[in-house]
Amino acid sequence: MITVNTAVAEHSHDTEATLDRRVEALLGRMTLAEKIGQMNQLFGGDGAAARVLRDDIRAGNVGAVLNVVEPDVVDELQRVAVEQSRLGIPLLFGRDVIHGFRTVLPIPLGQAATFNPGIVRDGARVAALEAAAVGVNWTFAPMIDIARDPRWGRIAESLGEDPYLASLLGVAMVEGFQGDDLAAPGAIAACAKHFAGYGAAESGRDYATTNIPENELRNVYLPPFRAAVDAGVATLMTSFSDLNGVPATANTFLLRQVLRDEWGFRGCVVSDWSSIPQLSVHGLTACDADAAQEAAIAGVDMDMASGVYAAQLARLVEQGRVGLDVIDAAVAGILRIKFRLGLFERPYVEPQTMPTVALDERLQIAKQAALQSVVLLKNDAGILPLSPTQTKSVAVIGPLADEPYEQLGTWIFDGDPALSVTGLQGIRDLLGSQVEIRYVRALETSRSRSTTGFDAALAAAYASDAAILFLGEESILSGEAHSRADIGLPGAQAELVRCVRAAGKPVVAVILAGRPLVLTDVIDDLDAVLFAWHPGTMGGAALAELLFGVESPSAKLPVTFPRAVGQVPIHYNQKQGGKPPSPETTILIDDIPVRARQTSVGNTSYHLDAGYRPLFPFGHGLSYTTFEYSNLRLDHTVLRIGDALTVSVDLTNTGLVAADEVAQLYVRDLVGNVTRPVRELKGFRRVRLAPGETVAVSFRLGSDDLAFFGRNNTEIVEPGEFHLWVGSSSEARLHGAFSLVDAGAERATP
Ligand code: BGC
Repeated sequence: MITVNTAVAEHSHDTEATLDRRVEALLGRMTLAEKIGQMNQLFGGDGAAARVLRDDIRAGNVGAVLNVVEPDVVDELQRVAVEQSRLGIPLLFGRDVIHGFRTVLPIPLGQAATFNPGIVRDGARVAALEAAAVGVNWTFAPMIDIARDPRWGRIAESLGEDPYLASLLGVAMVEGFQGDDLAAPGAIAACAKHFAGYGAAESGRDYATTNIPENELRNVYLPPFRAAVDAGVATLMTSFSDLNGVPATANTFLLRQVLRDEWGFRGCVVSDWSSIPQLSVHGLTACDADAAQEAAIAGVDMDMASGVYAAQLARLVEQGRVGLDVIDAAVAGILRIKFRLGLFERPYVEPQTMPTVALDERLQIAKQAALQSVVLLKNDAGILPLSPTQTKSVAVIGPLADEPYEQLGTWIFDGDPALSVTGLQGIRDLLGSQVEIRYVRALETSRSRSTTGFDAALAAAYASDAAILFLGEESILSGEAHSRADIGLPGAQAELVRCVRAAGKPVVAVILAGRPLVLTDVIDDLDAVLFAWHPGTMGGAALAELLFGVESPSAKLPVTFPRAVGQVPIHYNQKQGGKPPSPETTILIDDIPVRARQTSVGNTSYHLDAGYRPLFPFGHGLSYTTFEYSNLRLDHTVLRIGDALTVSVDLTNTGLVAADEVAQLYVRDLVGNVTRPVRELKGFRRVRLAPGETVAVSFRLGSDDLAFFGRNNTEIVEPGEFHLWVGSSSEARLHGAFSLVDAGAERATP
């Protein structure tokens, strides 16, 4: 049920013929050197340093520059390109605008927890406007790598483990960045990355090899890219990683067969930073010339930062190793983006022509996104929300309570920590002098092992009505090249939890982190847990409102939380296998009789020391109210191929406060030409309900939504029996069933 923004599709379709003519005409006037120049993206660096590029730009040797964010330098370089180079082709200015620019939204994984394409689109729009105002016309986002391994530091940048959710939210980001019309002031080109499979890095170690069978690649890793291409994404970036023996940057199967031939992508593919010469480090090629040849032939149009295209391609063409058709196709893709962006008409930074959004409004969007991204994992005895009237004092404890920078998360080159509202500040702003606040940092950083601050923490908790612990990991502990093998709370934080617990007061944890953490050893000592990811600029303001019940949490996990790191990769949409576990067949390590020779109660698939269930499943997230799902109905129990059915449930707010709920629809295809996941998310709706209110929530399920890649790796819609569930997580129990039948066969049956 991916709704493609037809405005975008129609716009690009309408102008396609004109675009082709313009591209062709310009291409016809270019020398080989000028063409190769377009394929070259160079690092501009900060400020004046970028000016060293002027001679190369004037000579037509540069097509794009990255990381220049000073408008006067952008204009100066652009002027050289437009007014002093022979053909006057404008430059692209690229930058990683990942989850905000000045105003920082929650990390993408946090945004995924909103299950709200609208707020994700608005956030990307704000980021585009702020970035465009300083001259950025191309962002290297969204990152839509499916990520099932929380050890991988870049899971923070991802939209989680589910192809459907990542597809919808990835498209929302593309729409936010690019708008309806890429040529409109304030729109910037998006870049779907990293094509493809990067998230499957072995053991979650960044840049490590991936081995993904084609069937899994097509069913799990490629759908978000397909959705982004269908939504008109301007560019794609290749992955650093090796895929089944051929690094993505030289992978003809991905870049030609799938992307161009099957999906019809006509935009530009950029390498990742120096990923072309790295083909030789991988051991796929022996030298830069071979690497440039492999990448160009595979379909990498632009070389990010390495200069090997500039150094090698002319000779490779002369030697007949790379055809002119390959060069022309690459340059056509690049010029097409420049035309689509309207750069030939409006090359310079013109903030005065851009739609403006007042700072207040941008901060409100960041706050809304944060409010909807914080997941209430646990809330024993309704400890949360704390009552601002009955709570006379709180102890605010921990290394992340007052860290304006750390709460912004990874990839925030241009973020402004001065705008940040921290948790401590948010609580102070909300409560004023109404409640006494005792702040104790207790640990210098999340990694600190010294317990010297613990006495003060215990005393503060003892003297207060409740303790709020701000725990987790700083932003530097996730992101690119920042993978972890042990994903528990670092340093002495678990000890801090136990120490504060001894005060006998309610203990609430707010956890800030770039990934799911293994919380098994602390979870029982915490009465309530708000998992806040890195919530961005307005994180603290949102957290205060959630802690004190101004708003109810409504976020849902976009990724499974393991009980032990040894369960990884763990994801809800797994295959069942031939020996699925159940409570009856599971015997855990402490229950195995002494000197037992055999413990078999069924030989099923689980870990003796962790069982088979996660600590928190995909889709989980509590609220301050309770919701009841009932009366599941289908308008048809027989669905013909080509048709759609409607699944409806009644959703009731059975608690005492108004709140949003994200109702989720899961489907299982019982028998397939290849084995199918035990459940797959096929729809979700975020709805707001007043106390006592009941609404009917409906999902449309088309037979297309049941398509998958079968044994021959072609997409099929296969008749058969399906189960479905609607509820508040991937463990929803309200259940229905239907049959999918061949259109012809069904018509023959009265
Ligand atoms: C990252 C990309 C990023 C690029 C440019 C690389 O190291 O993998 O995601 O867009 O740098 O900064």
